[in-house]
Amino acid sequence: MRIALLYFSGTYNTLYLTSILKNLLLKKNNSVDVFSLENKNNFANKKYDLIGIGYPIYAFNAPKIVEQNIKNLKLSNCNYFIYKNSGEPFKFNKASSYKIYKIMKKNNTFLGEYHFLMPYNILFKTKEQFISLEMQYNLKYLNYMVDNLLNKKPYNVNLFYRFITFIFKIYRLGSKINSHFYKIDKDKCNKCHLCQKNCPTQNITYNKEKRKMVFGNKCLMCMRCSFLCPQQAISIGLLERIKLNKYYDLNNIINLNYHYDFTKENQKFYKKFQKYFNYIDSLESSNS
Ligand SMILES: Cc1cc2nc3c(=O)[nH]c(=O)nc-3n(C[C@H](O)[C@H](O)[C@H](O)COP(=O)(O)O)c2cc1C
Repeated sequence: MRIALLYFSGTYNTLYLTSILKNLLLKKNNSVDVFSLENKNNFANKKYDLIGIGYPIYAFNAPKIVEQNIKNLKLSNCNYFIYKNSGEPFKFNKASSYKIYKIMKKNNTFLGEYHFLMPYNILFKTKEQFISLEMQYNLKYLNYMVDNLLNKKPYNVNLFYRFITFIFKIYRLGSKINSHFYKIDKDKCNKCHLCQKNCPTQNITYNKEKRKMVFGNKCLMCMRCSFLCPQQAISIGLLERIKLNKYYDLNNIINLNYHYDFTKENQKFYKKFQKYFNYIDSLESSNS
């Protein structure tokens, strides 16, 4: 098959999943092209048998940039699937694809959606051993997904989840407001302009008079600016207090030995994820 993967990734977790997915698909003799949804690209859907849409979940929703660009692409007669990821296995995350599903509904065929769990890079700290376990399961799930891409799965999401997701869309307004509180520590900033060059909405500009970076009101709250800043010079407004800015070396972490009993340490935290692991185990056993 000729497959296109259209993705957005704030702090590169979705990109990481996309690159593993691409390799798995190539191994199965597919051709794969990858397109970022933040750039204008020459994507032509007629060339592809199958399209994957990848995104991180923000406040139980898909990022606005994903919904907008999928709408702008005016896809038609496509077979498509969704692969999304989030920090936690909240139930309401299920409804995050609803808008995309609605945009695509008229003219395209939905084949299924797959939800992965990845570590938060910006907020809550997670033990690397645990991330290793999580990544091993993600790998199994990616393999399952690749083997079952053409098996149609319905998208059923109840009204209550959709309602909650809708309410949480308010975070989009919140991120615009919050971006006015973003600050750059002039003493720490080395003017490398990484934040400016990498902002997906070109929301950061250099003000020559003030001799500093300034933030506009198109912020998505993807946190990439702060995540990439080599000087840790960017404070992210009201979220600064809980900021973590942790880069996890997933290529190495995935190979860690994870024989570690998390249940003893933090029952509540671990239980949430156990469902996800059990689900993937059940897929494997039903496949064999
Ligand atoms: C602004 C923001 C909102 C988020 N909201 C949620 C959420 O509602 N539920 C959740 O489980 N994870 C949430 N996360 C965590 C991300 O979905 C997760 O870290 C994801 O792997 C990030 O992917 P990326 O690195 O490709 O941007 C949020 C992260 C950010 C930055």
